[in-house]
Amino acid sequence: MEIREARDGDWEQIWPFLRDVVAAGETYCWTRDTTEEAAKAWWMGKTGGRVFVADDGGRVLGTAELHPNQPAAGGHVANAGFMVAPLAAGRGVGRALAGHVLEQAANEGFRAMQFNAVVETNHNAVSLWKSLGFTVLATVPASFRHPVHGFVGLHVMYRSLEAPRPE
Ligand SMILES: CC(C)(COP(=O)(O)OP(=O)(O)OC[C@H]1O[C@@H](n2cnc3c(N)ncnc32)[C@H](O)[C@@H]1OP(=O)(O)O)[C@@H](O)C(=O)NCCC(=O)NCCS
Repeated sequence: MEIREARDGDWEQIWPFLRDVVAAGETYCWTRDTTEEAAKAWWMGKTGGRVFVADDGGRVLGTAELHPNQPAAGGHVANAGFMVAPLAAGRGVGRALAGHVLEQAANEGFRAMQFNAVVETNHNAVSLWKSLGFTVLATVPASFRHPVHGFVGLHVMYRSLEAPRPE
């Protein structure tokens, strides 16, 4: 499996699983019936953003997008989004995408990465981010309306991308 920059034509493979993840309504604060046009603009068209895919012999199994978390004075902190096809979940695709995105963000000069809204019941994601060095800075209580669990918290998660300074 190769993690590479997205190119023209990848969207046709991204949309079916991105649509399913969004329709489930459990992990992103998106309208569950988001249109393809809006989803494509949101995922592929962020200002200063880059999009990556996990390509397994021509099959796109997952995607990630990397962008500045804030404009201008806040532009040195990155944000990123991740979507793995449900059929390919739990096989290391998310970890591979995240490793690549962290590396690219550091290479681009971002000093940290912040996730603004990780649903606290998204245990797979939370444990993956923690294993990659992210910590939960705060949890905004009852800020996500989960279709199964009701009102749950959203974690703000953070990781520095700077090399530790020698003592
Ligand atoms: C969260 C997500 C990106 C993880 O991607 P993935 O390819 O399924 O995850 P991986 O197989 O790389 O697993 C990475 C880690 O996640 C956790 N994990 C993943 N699947 C798991 C499962 N079925 N049970 C328990 N832990 C699991 C483990 O900590 C695992 O660690 P390991 O590598 O030591 O086993 C993916 O499930 C996804 O796209 N979910 C829907 C959208 C989403 O939640 N995006 C993130 C929003 S913050």
